[in-house]
Amino acid sequence: MRTLIKGGTVVNATGPHIADVLVDGETVAAVLLPALALEITADEVIDAAGCYVIPGGVDAHTHMEMPFGGTTASDTFATGTAAAAWGGTTTIIDFAIQTPGQAVPECLDRWHQKAAGSCAVDYGFHMILGGVDADALKAMDGLADHEGVTSFKLFMAYPGVYYSDDGQILRAMQQAAGNGAMIMMHAENGIAIDVLAAQAVWRGDTGPLYHGLTRPAVLEAEATHRAIALAEAAGGTPLYIVHMSASEALAEVSAARSRGANVFAETCPQYLYLTLEDQLGAPGFEGAKWVCSTPLRSKHQSHAHDLWRGLRTDDLAVVSTDHCPFCMKDQKELGIGDFTKIPNGIGGVEHRMQLIYQGVADGQLSLARWVETCATTPARMFGLYPRKGVIAPGADADIVLYDPAGTTVLGAATHHMNLDYSAYEGLPVAGAVRTVLSRGRRVIDAGRFLGRAGHGQYLPRGLSSYLR
Ligand code: URP
Ligand code: ZN
Ligand code: ZN
Repeated sequence: MRTLIKGGTVVNATGPHIADVLVDGETVAAVLLPALALEITADEVIDAAGCYVIPGGVDAHTHMEMPFGGTTASDTFATGTAAAAWGGTTTIIDFAIQTPGQAVPECLDRWHQKAAGSCAVDYGFHMILGGVDADALKAMDGLADHEGVTSFKLFMAYPGVYYSDDGQILRAMQQAAGNGAMIMMHAENGIAIDVLAAQAVWRGDTGPLYHGLTRPAVLEAEATHRAIALAEAAGGTPLYIVHMSASEALAEVSAARSRGANVFAETCPQYLYLTLEDQLGAPGFEGAKWVCSTPLRSKHQSHAHDLWRGLRTDDLAVVSTDHCPFCMKDQKELGIGDFTKIPNGIGGVEHRMQLIYQGVADGQLSLARWVETCATTPARMFGLYPRKGVIAPGADADIVLYDPAGTTVLGAATHHMNLDYSAYEGLPVAGAVRTVLSRGRRVIDAGRFLGRAGHGQYLPRGLSSYLR
């Protein structure tokens, strides 16, 4: 089956150019000048006139079915990957989870069982190490060498749940220095945060806003600094700071990168568009919708401005979603009367490509940088390039036709995530996803879902190709 995508503007991380794309089976066969494409015969022609033709988005940070705070994230691998497809994301990298005392390979197997046969788009796994011990350290080599899991997330937050102390972090980093894996870090000083949170509850400050106020930016910056220092002490282990929200933390990453360290960071759309005051501080219990960690930051400081700048300068390399949805009903409601019991997370896997395209429309990012931060760099960062993240001969035909003339209004009535509210309710964003191909198959077209659970395949990943 050969498909010709005709008349569009192909946008790779190198920039836009007018070209037609020939897909043969699951793979991009050629990117051609339109005049040369006249000679090509195809079984099917897709008219891309007026559209950007971009590589499918790669969301390197999702949590389908994640257990958290006595409940489980509301998107399954089936619903979450279908929602991803609707928004032009054709690859997710989710997190398998190990907790203290559990065997890492068995935990990975359990996550494979959840995802296998369920996904609408391709998927890989990072491994969360919640219990770094001698067995877990040994298991890191096996995962990196044989299972295609080449990145490990550690938590400086959530004491008693996923938290690792500095000694455990250093050991895991030393192990990663030996096997080439990337350490991903949730950088917040969880021990100090727990003290502030307990004091707030004791005072009677129990509403969602206090989730943000007890996780100050300085504790994100401190943990980021410490993580960078530990990675340097471990011998220069590649380090990737997840869900960065604070200017002060970004400054730590910028300084490390200026020294030449292999330190990278991602941010998420919620930190670019939503704020402590307007969302987390909404009346009553409403703010629970936006309880996530790291938290939303104050609009009276320059966080969002600095994060956009970081995306332009590459101090922030990637935009991921940290998609971890919990419904208000029965899930977020667990924290009525005590914000520390609100499950942490925001759902957004469906909206990342569009929210960052809005940054292009607003003059924050170039078209090329949109594609680079949302598809190409995450693919390179996590060992999926050049199979993913680029439209080039030999790459998987994961392709999105994005219509910049459209408008999409985000909201719970129209989204496809299994979530009873939208973090972006009523927000209009520039452009519309018109068609999505996953490995050559149309999975979204003209407002219809044509995909199926089980089309998505597991992606064993190589080492990061983004080190310097
Ligand atoms: O609030 C968040 N981020 N929930 C998901 C777990 C994590 O820390 O990434
Ligand atoms: Zn985290
Ligand atoms: Zn996360």
